[in-house]
Amino acid sequence: MTTRILTGITTTGTPHLGNYAGAIRPAIVASRDAKVESFYFLADYHALIKCDDPVRIQRSRLEIAATWLACGLDVNRATFYRQSDIPEIPELCWLLTCVAGKGLLNRAHAYKASVDKNVEAGEDPDAGVTMGLFSYPVLMAADILMFNAHKVPVGRDQIQHVEMARDIAQRFNHLFGQGNELFTLPEAVIEEEVATLPGLDGRKMSKSYDNTIPLFGSAKQLKEAIARIVTDSRLPGEAKDPDSSHLFTLYQAFATPVQQAEFRADLLAGLAWGEAKQRLFELLDAELGEARERYQALIGRPAELEDILLAGAAKARRIATPFLGELREAVGLRSFREQVKVAGEGKKKAAKSARFVSFREPDGSFRFRFLAADGEQLLLSRPFSDPKAVGVVSQRLIAQGADALELREDEGDQFTLWLDGECLADSPPYADPEELDAAMLRLRDIIAGLAGAQG
Ligand code: TRP
Repeated sequence: MTTRILTGITTTGTPHLGNYAGAIRPAIVASRDAKVESFYFLADYHALIKCDDPVRIQRSRLEIAATWLACGLDVNRATFYRQSDIPEIPELCWLLTCVAGKGLLNRAHAYKASVDKNVEAGEDPDAGVTMGLFSYPVLMAADILMFNAHKVPVGRDQIQHVEMARDIAQRFNHLFGQGNELFTLPEAVIEEEVATLPGLDGRKMSKSYDNTIPLFGSAKQLKEAIARIVTDSRLPGEAKDPDSSHLFTLYQAFATPVQQAEFRADLLAGLAWGEAKQRLFELLDAELGEARERYQALIGRPAELEDILLAGAAKARRIATPFLGELREAVGLRSFREQVKVAGEGKKKAAKSARFVSFREPDGSFRFRFLAADGEQLLLSRPFSDPKAVGVVSQRLIAQGADALELREDEGDQFTLWLDGECLADSPPYADPEELDAAMLRLRDIIAGLAGAQG
């Protein structure tokens, strides 16, 4: 089975070298693993929580999208999209909001920090706290659970949020899963090996310390930033200690072992800081030069970026749309055309909660699934253009019962369902002819049960 990896990038800033080494580079490497399905997205709804400057929001979305693509993310492998292009996410967020305990969210670090600050300042505890900030973890849970991610690579400050997503998923499964796992329980992954880069002043490289090296500035900007790296005052010719120099740490994060060893030896032998900076510049320029060109080209063609992201959204929605249909069904937001469940209750055991679940495809067509009482999928319909057709067909199946039902075995491992000479639905594939036969019998039985229950 493949592992689903998912992570979001809040679109409030411009990516710097620290983001590249700590998040972007490892994520892109991970996405090339054939055993992994990766989902990377721009968390632009989350960005709105922290930023009310539309220009900055838009700029950052564009820059971050271009950065990931320029750094080599292959959108044919990974699913790369904007959160705000997936309407199923805010809808799921509401379903989760309705089961998330307020007490759970009261404990979120980000919210608590705001409250503590207010209290210290003698203000109302919730001064300046929006519902967006308070509900931040629920939206994040929706991001993760929408795609049933197994692993969520995040920074330490986000572990609690992934744990909350787990809690909320568990609660939802318990309330609505009828013994099935509707949601996969996600796990946070902290990459211990990836570099946390020091910034110009030696503290962790971070926008909030204003000590960053821009990732895709011009070569001149890169050089200027490197010139500002703080070093000790040892003179040219004096031995430098590589292990206490963050310039060396920066170099290490991008150099081969051989390069590292040479640089170390040269520093010990008295290399001047000015020259050391030049070496770091050359190393970074070599690592980033090509990507910088790709980045500039992408930024210059925003319409193309838009197309790439919309294609990513369509790909993501091929999963999100039917899954949300199942979740709506699970909580009781069901079509009135599917009253079989109520009507049939208590009559025949097999039919008790076999059910039709209809959903809309990204292309606008409609389909239904027919699920057994245990949630196993028995049929997936062909697409219909009219949403009513789904209801009509399911009603006819029930009304006409097993006798009208024509099941045809495919050459392969599947069967199809026909009504009045029209192929309406396909079964899932089965392992062998015996299983296939058993599944056909069972389907007849269940449909007969539904018809009986209604009659
Ligand atoms: N909150 C995350 C951050 O600030 C970004 C994010 C949003 C995210 N949704 C997510 C990360 C889902 C992982 C999974 O870093």
